[in-house]
Amino acid sequence: MNEIKGRVINVSNRLPVLIRRHASGTRLERSSGGLATALEAGWRDQPGVWIGWAGATPDESIEPLLVRAARRRSYTLRSVALTEEDIAKFYSGFANEIIWPLFHDMPSRCNFDPEYWATYQNVNRKFAAVVAETAQEDDFVWVHDYHLMLTAASLRQAGVRANMGFFLHIPFPSPDIFEKLPWKQPILKALLEFDVIGFQGDRDRSNFVSCLERLLPEVAVERGTSHLLVGLAGRRSVVGTFPIGIDFEAFEHDAERPEIAAHAAEIRKRVADDVLVLGVDRLDYTKGIPERLKSFRLLLRRFPEMRGHITLVQVVVPSREEIPNYKHLRREVELLVSQINGEFTEPGWVPVHYIHRNLGREELLAYYRAADIGLVTPLKDGMNLVAKEFCAAQIDERGVLIVSEFAGAGPELRSGAIIVNPNDFSQVAQALYDAAHMTAEEKRSRMRLLRQIVKDHNVHRWIRSFLQAVPSSDQVKGGSGSASWSELDGATVGPPIASSFGSVVRVDQKMPGVALLASALSPRTRPRYAMGRDAKLHLLRSAAGED
Ligand code: ADP
Ligand code: F6P
Repeated sequence: MNEIKGRVINVSNRLPVLIRRHASGTRLERSSGGLATALEAGWRDQPGVWIGWAGATPDESIEPLLVRAARRRSYTLRSVALTEEDIAKFYSGFANEIIWPLFHDMPSRCNFDPEYWATYQNVNRKFAAVVAETAQEDDFVWVHDYHLMLTAASLRQAGVRANMGFFLHIPFPSPDIFEKLPWKQPILKALLEFDVIGFQGDRDRSNFVSCLERLLPEVAVERGTSHLLVGLAGRRSVVGTFPIGIDFEAFEHDAERPEIAAHAAEIRKRVADDVLVLGVDRLDYTKGIPERLKSFRLLLRRFPEMRGHITLVQVVVPSREEIPNYKHLRREVELLVSQINGEFTEPGWVPVHYIHRNLGREELLAYYRAADIGLVTPLKDGMNLVAKEFCAAQIDERGVLIVSEFAGAGPELRSGAIIVNPNDFSQVAQALYDAAHMTAEEKRSRMRLLRQIVKDHNVHRWIRSFLQAVPSSDQVKGGSGSASWSELDGATVGPPIASSFGSVVRVDQKMPGVALLASALSPRTRPRYAMGRDAKLHLLRSAAGED
């Protein structure tokens, strides 16, 4: 592991704050979405800089607002201004009409407009220019998400020498989907300019590597059971899996507050003894909201005895409202809600409560606490933090989590949650019925397990494991290390075992699954190592290349 000597500079499309224009003037509000929530929680009390867009255009001066927002933070905020055209073609266009649907396996929703690509390159250069002004050689530049995949390439061209990492918060698709992208090779090559490339899950990482193998055959890939090393044109990148988490303690602590308990009791009073099912999402077609409503309708049709005894509260935060697919989605969801309510409402009972706004943290926590069932059924999702937040706030261990097998959180939470296929309405309806009839004992033991998992895999661990994977400059640029890889065979968990090597192997004792393999040897002659279940490195192939 390379000790980061300088600051960490986080770079993301959105800053954690967002400018809102009101008749009375402009105001900064909290940004929504998993990236902002997680990073803000994880970065609390850490120094550094966060560079991103606060929703402002170049003619707006928001500096005083940012300085004020930074006063409550340990890091500074630097904004990148985007023109109306940038917002339309880079943010709405390339990022959210091409990459977002494609990476979520929905190519038929893509609009491959070539003008979007030109603006995407331009805006990535704009972000890079601000980073270049800010970053010093010892700093670590951590770029987040699909909006900014070209930033490292621009920074390298500008001669910036700092180490750079990239984390993709959304899924990475399989080669059959990815290759539909007209700009697939330049994007892959640009990603390889980062020193560390991180994904949410093993599936995403393995899709990325399969894309490299299919589309850039000149790339050398070293396989281990933890991180991989990928080499192209004299550069090497560490490629790893780093599932994101939440600040469990903060959610738990806040959920315990008396005012949250009182608010939760108030919500419960309004639904009487009904089973309260909760859905909380950005209004996005990947979240499976229409499918969820259809499953709920099927439950009411198939089990008439549930009518009058179960209520779905669906909270959606408005999102990307300029994009046609999102406009249609809103209409579809609102039509379904009114159809279900029209079909089943009885005096004193409305089956679906629909809330279309960004909830404050207190209100959100009160809903999480009040709910009996958390229904998280995305069609595909990088991680899904709502599932984790629901568990953290369930301090009474009363709730049941139903989660989609296609959420990044699905595999991690499967031991305590009910796992469903969101396209199988019948299965989701049955899961709701089962959850509503589960014994208190079973609920408690499942929720206890879930809470332990969410607590262990928290946002701090995510940050730590990513930063631990940052190789030293020598390692990625082919430095002068002299160690033979066979010297590393049999390395055990512990502190760096070869700190004087050009190659370093360090295993985080708290994370036996995470090891960094980096070599100063050429990819051709480097032997292959893998991290075994015993957390030791095992030689797979000798330096001569035989198996
Ligand atoms: P995504 O990043 O795709 O939006 P996640 O589930 O990972 O999905 O993260 C969503 C974040 O946004 C969570 O932190 C959640 O609390 C927050 N959020 C979602 N809907 C609302 C809402 N209606 N009001 C307030 N916060 C919300
Ligand atoms: O977590 C995925 C993500 O796409 C973030 O990158 C993004 O900030 C968030 O969801 C919300 O989307 P948007 O920034 O488009 O409002």
